Amino acid sequence: MDKTAAISGVMGYVPDFRLTNAMLEEMVDTNDEWIVSRTGIKERRILKGEQAGTSVMAIEAVNRLLEKTNTATTDVDLVIAATVTPDMRFPSLANIVADKCKMPGIPAFDINAACSGFLYALNVGSQMISTGLYKKVIVVGADKMSSILNYKDRSTCILFGDGAGAVLLEPNEEGCGVLDCFMGGDGSGEKYLNLKAGGSRTPLTHELLDLGAHYVFQDGGPVFKMAVSKMAESAKLIMERNQLSAEDVHWLVPHQANKRIIDATANFAGLPIEKVMVNIEKYGNTTAATIPLCLWEWENKMNPGDNLILVAFGGGFSWGATYLKWAY
Ligand code: ACO
Repeated sequence: MDKTAAISGVMGYVPDFRLTNAMLEEMVDTNDEWIVSRTGIKERRILKGEQAGTSVMAIEAVNRLLEKTNTATTDVDLVIAATVTPDMRFPSLANIVADKCKMPGIPAFDINAACSGFLYALNVGSQMISTGLYKKVIVVGADKMSSILNYKDRSTCILFGDGAGAVLLEPNEEGCGVLDCFMGGDGSGEKYLNLKAGGSRTPLTHELLDLGAHYVFQDGGPVFKMAVSKMAESAKLIMERNQLSAEDVHWLVPHQANKRIIDATANFAGLPIEKVMVNIEKYGNTTAATIPLCLWEWENKMNPGDNLILVAFGGGFSWGATYLKWAY
């Protein structure tokens, strides 16, 4: 690669409303001790308001990112959004964001890779820059998971929250940016983690609505096992093939699905927890937003040239890892 694509700015947005474990105790048969010990989550943010879709959060994140980086909307070449909860089946979330953030006429599309979505989108966006096709690409990961959760199902409703995070990608000639990436997938995982009703195979009916088939379904055990092994393997693989020892890595940026999965990944990669970005206790699993929300919160702690390993696993199954050098 002659040119690398570097993150030149990051911004996050989370809604104000906090859904705490104590509140969930009033809604389903659960308790704070169980949730914290099994997942590490203490609260999550929920987007409230009539007709407030995922775009509300994505637009906030992108507008604030443009302002922070002094980027003229007319200079942006492409918007890629990662989401499983677009406002509508179509048009894409990215199209809506590009329009509302006043970037008319530019290409914009969504990537659906569940919790690996942001990592996939970042990899795709960075390739668009490395080839020389584009100079400014916005990648936004956003999900309103509360719109697809059954708040009577204690096995799923405790896990997820709403949020958005966005990065600006630009060419970098100083050796910073995305230096390596890989993505993996296994569609046979559909039986363990899915949302059945409303797709073309199973269009929504009154009966399916009554059964709650329009909500997230997860068989947590097999997903947990696969997430641990794929996140750990992915981190190790990308470190090995870039000759990075644990000492060389400044930050591990894992998808935030479960604190136990994060700990196992860090352990396997030989990284102490001080080098691992963890904010799951505040936001839960925000699906495509977890990684950019971590980058946003740790932005002031990072230095130019820091080696970051991003790693994700999600529905599909899908997984992947990215090695990047922080640019600022
Ligand atoms: N409160 C109290 N008890 C509960 C709750 C709850 N909220 N949820 C489940 N339980 C019960 C179960 O019913 C079970 O009871 P039983 O033994 O009487 O049957 C018991 O707790 C143990 O359940 P397990 O499923 O074995 O608990 P586990 O330790 O596996 O933790 C969890 C469950 C947290 C869901 C875990 O499996 C997990 O994190 N899975 C992976 C999540 C993930 O990574 N998803 C991928 C990304 S998501 C995406 O891509 C959209």
